[in-house]
Amino acid sequence: MGVGIEVRRIAASDGPRLREVRLAALADAPGAFWQTFDGEAARPSDDWPRRAARAAAGDAHATFLLERDGEPIGMIDVHQPSMAPEFRELAAMWVAPAVRATGAADLLIEAALGWARSVGAIGVRLWVEVANLAAQRTYRRHGFKQISGPERDHADPAGKSYLSMALPLNPEAAASPTFLGRASAPWTDESG
Ligand SMILES: CC(C)(COP(=O)(O)OP(=O)(O)OC[C@H]1O[C@@H](n2cnc3c(N)ncnc32)[C@H](O)[C@@H]1OP(=O)(O)O)[C@@H](O)C(=O)NCCC(=O)NCCS
Repeated sequence: MGVGIEVRRIAASDGPRLREVRLAALADAPGAFWQTFDGEAARPSDDWPRRAARAAAGDAHATFLLERDGEPIGMIDVHQPSMAPEFRELAAMWVAPAVRATGAADLLIEAALGWARSVGAIGVRLWVEVANLAAQRTYRRHGFKQISGPERDHADPAGKSYLSMALPLNPEAAASPTFLGRASAPWTDESG
């Protein structure tokens, strides 16, 4: 891991920084996300401070920024799915190409999982584009297993297909016969 690289939860004042890193992610990896660069770039400017403030505090939503010497070089978003509130869902993960395969992605995932545990979630789930093998390998290394898909996401303007993965956060959840069903409950959040 490079010197000066750290992960922190976003602050309410980080709206412009969130916009910068999210647009960098969408410019770099349009195939990984269902939201588009043009769609995100067109958001009203007051949307970004609102999103940062929502993710800066509380148990429902957190965004973590990866920074090198104070400059944003990655992010991950975690939110509470309204139809499966005992879970948290990972989305919008990105690390800049210059810091891939350095453990930076692990820092982001560990921050997200640690936060999900700290707020009492029983598991974490995510959607990943079917051809995104690098991301799938990263998630599998952290213990995620595929639970459904691939299926086409009709909210995705490009019609890409995604598979869903989940990770129980405690032994009771791992042993529960209802875990997979709950992890597959409908997805309702706007992030991704
Ligand atoms: C996904 C992402 C955050 C992972 O970051 P990273 O630093 O590359 O992560 P890792 O160091 O864990 O490396 C990824 C793994 O994929 C492997 N990999 C890399 N490119 C690959 C490819 N084209 N095909 C298959 N595996 C690949 C690496 O060898 C590594 O596997 P390993 O753990 O067995 O060694 C980063 O690639 C990224 O930002 N991608 C663009 C955005 C994205 O896809 N986000 C995820 C949305 S769900």
